[in-house]
Amino acid sequence: MKTTINTIQKKKNKEKITSITAYDALFGRIFDGEVDFILVGDSLAHSFGGHHDTLAVSFDEMIYHAKAVCRGVKESLIVGDMSFGSYQNEVMALTNATRYYQETQVGAIKLEGGVERFSMIKKLTSEGIAVMGHIGLTPQFARGEGGYKIKGKDAASVQKLKEDAQAVQEAGVFAVVLEGIKHEVATEITQMLSIPTIGIGSGVHCDGQILVWSDMFGFFTEFQPKFVRRYFEGEKHLKEALRAYVKDVKEENFPSIEESY
Ligand code: KIV
Repeated sequence: MKTTINTIQKKKNKEKITSITAYDALFGRIFDGEVDFILVGDSLAHSFGGHHDTLAVSFDEMIYHAKAVCRGVKESLIVGDMSFGSYQNEVMALTNATRYYQETQVGAIKLEGGVERFSMIKKLTSEGIAVMGHIGLTPQFARGEGGYKIKGKDAASVQKLKEDAQAVQEAGVFAVVLEGIKHEVATEITQMLSIPTIGIGSGVHCDGQILVWSDMFGFFTEFQPKFVRRYFEGEKHLKEALRAYVKDVKEENFPSIEESY
């Protein structure tokens, strides 16, 4: 059965919500039905595209990847990230979010920011677009803030996080990603809100968790943030298999007679 935003919301205080990113049909199909939702994240810029942060990916590229994921996924809810620069004002946000809905089968979009996004989120939701919020460490703002900074370390930061959380909930998001937030603060925000919180680097007490697939399966190995748990050594296993193939070709062990026409 297809997971919807309502399925996700009903899990608050009952069952943990699980999610992962995907950028294509191949992996979307593998993850489908195993997690509640799949995020076509702008993290594809670094984990897929070789960039150093998320800013380089264009909205057209997001649409391309979302289309591919939608072709592979039947059960999990698909959320499409709004890329950097694609929602600089309400008109742009509505135009681009509408493109997501018209050109792909995503069930919701995600955008970064808190209080300052209040009227934008209200506009999108009033036009029938389901929005997931994203507050705390917001990677699209990291360059502007001089780097990736953990949030909730002092009273002013805690206050700002609470205001952001309240604002996006009031504006109408169906869930909110809490990224890079001190775990005690993320717990407090989770208890304060009636919508589900999805944590990444924000402790175990969020209503759910998300990880970038290439990080958690060991395919992206340039660096490993503290919050990433590796469930598979993808690069290692893939290289071993690749070397076995190269060896077989060189030694004329591949293809065998059964593998030949
Ligand atoms: O782009 C992404 O993958 C994300 C998650 C890390 C939440 O926004």
